[in-house]
Amino acid sequence: MPVIVLVGAQWGDEGKGKATDLLGDRLDYVVKFNGGNNAGHTVVIDGEKYALHLLPSGILSPGVVPVIGNGVVVDLNVLFQEIDGLEARGIDTSRLRISANAHVIASYNRTLDKVSERFLGARRIGTTGRGIGPTYADKMNRMGIRVQDLFDESILRQKVTAALAMKNQVLSKIYNRSAVKGEEVVQELLSYVDRLRPYVADTALELSQAIDEGKVVLCEAGQATLLDVDHGTYPFVTSSNATSGGACTGAGIPPTRIDRVVAVLKAFTTRVGEGPFPTELHDKFGDYLREVGHEYGTTTGRPRRIGWLDLVIGRYAQRINGVTDFAMTKLDNYDGLDEIPVCVAYEVNGVRYDEMPVNQTDFHHATPVYETLPGWKQDISGCRKFEELPQQAQDFVEFVEARLGARISIVGVGPGREAVIERHSVLGGV
Ligand code: IMP
Repeated sequence: MPVIVLVGAQWGDEGKGKATDLLGDRLDYVVKFNGGNNAGHTVVIDGEKYALHLLPSGILSPGVVPVIGNGVVVDLNVLFQEIDGLEARGIDTSRLRISANAHVIASYNRTLDKVSERFLGARRIGTTGRGIGPTYADKMNRMGIRVQDLFDESILRQKVTAALAMKNQVLSKIYNRSAVKGEEVVQELLSYVDRLRPYVADTALELSQAIDEGKVVLCEAGQATLLDVDHGTYPFVTSSNATSGGACTGAGIPPTRIDRVVAVLKAFTTRVGEGPFPTELHDKFGDYLREVGHEYGTTTGRPRRIGWLDLVIGRYAQRINGVTDFAMTKLDNYDGLDEIPVCVAYEVNGVRYDEMPVNQTDFHHATPVYETLPGWKQDISGCRKFEELPQQAQDFVEFVEARLGARISIVGVGPGREAVIERHSVLGGV
């Protein structure tokens, strides 16, 4: 029985929630292994829209155990807001498991995220301001607060005091902000303890046992390949590993137990925040795709930057993640276009690059080399089989597939849960 890792192939917001939801009935566990409430999954079920930032999207499928792995950073206020919101709509959240080793986003790290972005000015990253980066920095600096620390008041107080000894200097002397009172932080965190307790577990052990029992486990990445701290467009990245390897460290699942890697690839490209973006559009086509695709951030509401599909990035995502299957989303967003340019390579100072340039300056200066495919000019949202798609749409998918290095197993043709074409089973017949 498979262990599947689901990643984003581009800069995020590819529609991973939809892919998870499609597999929902056949999954036993859905594990979030990186990031925090910087993510935003919008899932539409029976016309009802659910926007989740922290909880794994598997929480909406009754037979699934949702897991927040050790690699996640948890904002407890957001966690309980989401739990309360779902419970109010009749969704049972009691199956949720949270790793005792996951780190907690303390209030001072939200403050530091915002003030440091302001301080950077034109050099800002464009973060979501949720405290993600400072919390991962604390983890690496070995001054983070873990979920398990909340269950030992004296340890918690020691850790908060130690962290603030340095952070209050930074807040007051560099950013000219008032110092944070340690006891207020401790009391806020302790206020969650009773509600948190039933969810906390040794999730790596539970997952290992589940895999031994033949359960189907989906590890769902937050963010995406080009936002990965190691493999993305550094420094315009998030602070965690959003590529498939992150599932090993962030969930405690060894690489030898992973069977399939599914990457979600939007049929065009979007990005929020700052950083290079070779196929970015500043014309009516960009505005058109933003409007038909409702491309506004789920987390911050920011209009997303829009560009044509970039296959240099698609191939890179295949290689870095070891993608076995792609899920292409939003193919229907092209329904109104006469023709569709697709980036197949870059040109930098007269030199053609078929693979991602290793040097960031080259990537910043990359000019896309396009091949233009004919559009289909008809509504495809009712198609449920590949053969039902207009010939031009089939040709488009096959053109992309031939250049990605892995099959396109799922094609999304509309916003609803049912608006998908499953060409191959990514679960290998499960
Ligand atoms: P942070 O994750 O808040 O530190 O933000 C770092 C970068 O990642 C910024 O460019 C954000 O816009 C981007 N980012 C973080 N989470 C997401 C996401 O879920 N989708 C798209 N971009 C994201």
